[in-house]
Amino acid sequence: MADTILAVENLSKAFTMHLRGGIVLPVLEHVSFTVAAGECVVLGGPSGAGKSSIMKIVAGTYQARSGAVKVRHRGALVDTTAMTARDFAAVRRETIAEVTQFLRAIPRVSALDLVSAAGGGDGAREEAASLLTRLNLPERLWGLPPATFSGGEKQRVNIAAGFIRKTPLLLVDEPTASLDAANRAVVVDLITAKKAAGTAILGIFHDHEVREAVCDRVVDVTAFSPRRAA
Ligand SMILES: Nc1ncnc2c1ncn2[C@@H]1O[C@H](COP(=O)(O)OP(=O)(O)O)[C@@H](O)[C@H]1O
Ligand SMILES: [Mg+2]
Repeated sequence: MADTILAVENLSKAFTMHLRGGIVLPVLEHVSFTVAAGECVVLGGPSGAGKSSIMKIVAGTYQARSGAVKVRHRGALVDTTAMTARDFAAVRRETIAEVTQFLRAIPRVSALDLVSAAGGGDGAREEAASLLTRLNLPERLWGLPPATFSGGEKQRVNIAAGFIRKTPLLLVDEPTASLDAANRAVVVDLITAKKAAGTAILGIFHDHEVREAVCDRVVDVTAFSPRRAA
C-alpha cells in the first residue's frame, strides 16, 4: 500500500460569529479520511457543506476546533494542529502546495515572477514560462501584475503557481471553475502527471468531467455535517 501523505482524524470546525453576539456555528464534526501518495481524493457535497473549510484547515488558513491533521513531512506523519505557527510554516514550505479558489495577487509582481517565485530554485523561470504556455496565458501578459487580469487568466496564474511546486501534498479548490474546455483539459493533464509522480492530491471539483477524469475516491462532506445529525 502506498504511503499515507495526509490523515485527517476526527476533525471538527465551528465559526464564532463575533458580530452576532458570539454565537457558535458548528460546520463540521468528526471528519476522518486519508490521502495516499499518487492518489487524488475529492471532497464532495453541495455548496456550503464545508469542503473549502476542510481545505483551508489542511492549508493552515483556518484553525481546527478539535481533531488532528497529520501530513507526511520529511518522512514522518506530523500533526499540524499541534504545531507552532513557525513550525507549520516550515511544513507548508516543503510539504504542502495549494491552488486556492481565488488568486491572491501581490501588487506590482508580474505573473511570470509570481509563478517563478512559487517554484524557487534553479530553472524556476523556465518552468514557469512552460506552465504559462501550456495553460495558454498570452505571453504579452507574463510581464504584467495579474491584478487586472480576467477571472480565467488569474486562475491560470494561480494554477501555475501551485503546480510548479514539487511538494508531497497538493490542495486544489475548484481550479477549473472559470476555464474553457481546452484549459480544463490541460489541468486534467497536469493533475494526472502529479499523480504519476507520487503527489497526494486533495481536490474540490465543480466540473463533473474533470472530477471523473482525475478522482480516485470521493469523501462526502455531508456525512460530517452537524446539522444532519441534529
Ligand atoms: N470565515 C467564515 N466565517 C463564518 N462562516 C464561514 C466562514 N467560512 C465558511 N463559513 C461557513 O461554513 C459553511 C461551509 O463553508 P465552505 O467550507 O466554504 O463550504 P463549501 O466549500 O462546501 O461550499 C458555510 O455555511 C459558510 O458560510
Ligand atoms: Mg468552496
